[in-house]
Amino acid sequence: MLILGIESSCDETGLALYSEGEGLIAHMVNSQVELFTEYGGVIPEIAARDHSVKIINILKTLLKKADKKLNDINLVAYTAGPGLIGSLMVGETVAKTISNVLDIELLPINHLEGHILAPGLEDDNLETPYLCLLVSGGHTQIIECSDYGSYKILGETVDDACGEAFDKVGKLLNLDYPGGPKVSKLAAGGDPARFNFPRALMKDRNLNFSFSGLKTAVLYALEDLEEKDYPDVAASFQEAVVDVLIKKLAYAIEQTGIKKLVCSGGVAANSLLRERLTDMGKTSELEVSYPKMEFCTDNAAMIAYAGFIRKKYNLKEYPTKFARPRWPLGELYD
Ligand code: KG4
Ligand code: ZN
Repeated sequence: MLILGIESSCDETGLALYSEGEGLIAHMVNSQVELFTEYGGVIPEIAARDHSVKIINILKTLLKKADKKLNDINLVAYTAGPGLIGSLMVGETVAKTISNVLDIELLPINHLEGHILAPGLEDDNLETPYLCLLVSGGHTQIIECSDYGSYKILGETVDDACGEAFDKVGKLLNLDYPGGPKVSKLAAGGDPARFNFPRALMKDRNLNFSFSGLKTAVLYALEDLEEKDYPDVAASFQEAVVDVLIKKLAYAIEQTGIKKLVCSGGVAANSLLRERLTDMGKTSELEVSYPKMEFCTDNAAMIAYAGFIRKKYNLKEYPTKFARPRWPLGELYD
């Protein structure tokens, strides 16, 4: 079985070929990030147009790279949500067209399931149960994966995603989009204890997150500060974000008893977060792993792989025929 994976939920156009016998054969990702530098964030219509312009050429290059023909594909797995509707619909239209022309099966995949299963691309023996901390520009979630196809969101953000908060604070500190890596770099030369920025939703071992108040607190703090203070602001902000992520994770471990964690998404590159997770591993015997960065951020390899897993374990089909901007994981499995 040769699976074509298609990912276009936000600003990455991804295509991948995954084979039942050989595993991942090839994958390609085109990031649109440079398109959005001047805007300071993703503009949905521009993202959709760019997917539309690039996707077929990426497919052709991928097939060439893998020495395969379109006819060799037996199944198309594509991201049907959650994400930006215009972007999703480009991937969906390509997926539906290929499936109809070749008369092969079409599998809509929930993007989050892709992230949850991504570690399996590198680890054939990935054993459940495990927790997944997904921290990206679009998501901040702690998910319990008790078995393949059996996921529960234990907590998630009620407003901004954690990467989004980094990007917004980056903008306040006059850093280019995406601000996350630049805020982190600036923070390296700052004092994380200078400002005591708010940590939201910390009562009652709540597992949800909120980062918009933190961003506003940074905005107000900056009113009385000069550029020389920016490293301290960046460091104190980063400290607050990582502190919240680590504490909530500790609650999740306490509640579930699961001591295995996969950390994924763009913010998984953050060195303070990695440092704190390593410390946590030492003190509470937590086994922490990170997919390779190329599988941590949005890609189609994880979507093709999720398609493979769903077929392999004969998991119930998703009852969706359309791309869905909102598609809570829980809805699929109840
Ligand atoms: O998963 P990802 O590549 O894509 C989307 O969410 O679409 O995540 C990108 C996010 C951005 O918000 C970026 O600023 C953030 O991850 N990010 C970081 C770091 N590297 C990337 N945030 C904090 N520290 C980093 N080192
Ligand atoms: Zn994603």
